[in-house]
Amino acid sequence: MAPQNLLVQKKEHYAIVTINRPDKLNALNNLTVAELYEVMKALANDDSIRAIILTGSGEKAFVAGADISEISQKDEISGELFALKGQRVFRFIEQMAKPVIAAVNGYALGGGCELAMACHLRISSTRAKFGQPEINLGLIPGYGGTQRLPRLIGRSNALYLLLTGEMIDAHRAYELGLVSEVVEPEQLLERAETLAKIITEKPIIATRFILKAVDEGLELPLDAALNLEAKLFGKICDTEDMKEGTRAFLEKRKPEFKGR
Ligand code: COA
Repeated sequence: MAPQNLLVQKKEHYAIVTINRPDKLNALNNLTVAELYEVMKALANDDSIRAIILTGSGEKAFVAGADISEISQKDEISGELFALKGQRVFRFIEQMAKPVIAAVNGYALGGGCELAMACHLRISSTRAKFGQPEINLGLIPGYGGTQRLPRLIGRSNALYLLLTGEMIDAHRAYELGLVSEVVEPEQLLERAETLAKIITEKPIIATRFILKAVDEGLELPLDAALNLEAKLFGKICDTEDMKEGTRAFLEKRKPEFKGR
């Protein structure tokens, strides 16, 4: 069945997933989170798709947060389950073997900022605004904000945003390293698609190993992480793509990667 709150568009080697509740600024209600999980799982298993762009519908918002009307009904047990469920979906995205690019077109607040942070790359429109305003609601982030934000922009900058609930614009997000580039709103999707195309032309096993080395390695002590890198480096040396890539360089020609 087609999702109610998501649009999924497949291009040649990548897909664009649009969160589509513009009248609620694409706030993540229970159904949207469940649909996001199903759609991302299907794309993870779709061999024709090698990168995914995640964006929000309308001009105003990427995602303005988890749905506050749903949160307002939670108690201790249901609140914890709510957080665990969203975290599981975001962690699935973060651990996908295909790069996921957040094209942040507007407000990325609370769960929206957390969703963008779970993606592998983040590019932003000049119109976007970022923040973790949960504290203004008597809440704390529940979809990974207290953990991914300090890992991405450092403890001090993260605590500033978490404790003040302040919104920052795209240029400040760029300065803090929260996004890797800022473009005009009308260029956002085009730039995201260009990035997706660049990535889908790269050898697929190397892409997968880089995602794995960074995701797993970041949580390991340095020596164990370096060991993981060496293991993956060894494995990649046994691939046809590595032989082809190095041979093509030496023969001064363009490589033809086969994903083997
Ligand atoms: N959950 C549920 N509904 C939300 C929402 C959210 N996180 N964010 C926006 N909406 C809804 C509004 O309730 C409103 O619905 P209505 O038209 O039925 O009243 C609609 O989206 C438009 O939002 P509105 O507040 O009127 O737009 P605005 O331009 O005046 O303000 C924001 C935009 C983003 C500043 C404001 O919507 C906001 O602060 N949202 C909540 C952000 C937040 O705290 N997120 C963390 C949640 S844990």
